[in-house]
Amino acid sequence: MSVQSSIEGKTLVISGGTRGIGKAIVYEFAEAGANVAFTYHSNEEEAKKIAEDLEKNYHIKARYYQLNILEPETYKEVFKQIDEDFNEINFFISNAIISGRAVVGGYGKFMRLKPRGLNNIYTATVVAFVIGAQEAAKRIEKAGGGSIISISSTGNLVYIENYAGHGTNKAAVEAMVRYAAAELGSMGIRVNAVSGGPIDTDALKAFTNYEEVKQKVVELSPLGRMGEPKDLAGACLFLCSEKADWITGQTLIIDGGTTFK
Ligand SMILES: NC(=O)c1ccc[n+]([C@@H]2O[C@H](COP(=O)([O-])OP(=O)(O)OC[C@H]3O[C@@H](n4cnc5c(N)ncnc54)[C@H](OP(=O)(O)O)[C@@H]3O)[C@@H](O)[C@H]2O)c1
Repeated sequence: MSVQSSIEGKTLVISGGTRGIGKAIVYEFAEAGANVAFTYHSNEEEAKKIAEDLEKNYHIKARYYQLNILEPETYKEVFKQIDEDFNEINFFISNAIISGRAVVGGYGKFMRLKPRGLNNIYTATVVAFVIGAQEAAKRIEKAGGGSIISISSTGNLVYIENYAGHGTNKAAVEAMVRYAAAELGSMGIRVNAVSGGPIDTDALKAFTNYEEVKQKVVELSPLGRMGEPKDLAGACLFLCSEKADWITGQTLIIDGGTTFK
C-alpha cells in the first residue's frame, strides 16, 4: 500500500491550519486525498479561503473551527462540532502555537522569564496537546485506530536565543508524547512528535533575531537553505500512513542537518 492510498478518504484534525506549518500540513493531506478539519484562532477569513480552495482543488471535505489553545478545555466543544461534520476521525496533529502578548515573560532571556508567560506556553504546548489528543483518541479508536502527532522544535535540544520558555515546553510535550504512545497503543493509536529546526513562518518572523537565525540555518545546513513549512508536512503524512505502522513514541527530527554542525 502506498503512503497516499492509506491516507485517502481518511480525516485529519489539526490545530492552527491557517498559517505556516499547519497550513502546509493541511495542503499535504488534502493533496493525498484526506478530508481536513482544521482550527484557526483569529484568522477566520483566511480559514474560509483555505477551506474553499481545498474543496475546489482537491475534491475533499474541508471545515474550519475556532479554537483558543490557551483554553484547552474548549477542544471538547470543537470536537463535538467536528462530529457533526465528519463520520470519523483518523489522525490528529497538535500544531498551533501562541505568539505576541501571550508569550511576554515566556519568550526572552532566562533572567527575564516570568510565571505568566511560561505558564501560557505550557498551557498552549502541553495541556492543549493532552486535551486535544484525549478527545481525538476516543474517536480514532472508534474508527479502528490511527495516528497522533505533536509538532515540536529542536529548540529543546540546541540553544536558541530567547527560546527557553518554548524549548523547555517542547521537551515536555515530547515526553508527554512518549507517555501517550505507551498507553494508547492498545487503542490502535500511534503517537509521535515531529521536531523542526527553524522554519520560515510568521512565528519565526516574530523572533527579534529572525534574519540572524535564517542566515545561520543556511550556513549550518549541508543543504544550504532555510527550512520551509512543507519540509515538516511530508513527515507528518508518512507518520500517519501505514508505512509508519511500527513507529510510535518517537521524535522525528527535521532540521536540514543543522543540529550536528
Ligand atoms: N517556525 C519555526 O521555526 C518552527 C520550528 C519548529 C517547530 N515549530 C512549531 O510548529 C508549529 C506551528 O508553528 P508556525 O511557525 O507554523 O506558527 P505560525 O505561522 O505563527 O501559525 C500559528 C498558527 O496557530 C494559530 N494560533 C495562534 N494563536 C492561537 C491560539 N491562541 N489558539 C489557537 N490557535 C492559535 C494561528 O491561527 P490564526 O492564523 O487564526 O491566528 C496559526 O494557524 C508550532 O507548534 C511551532 O512551535 C515552528
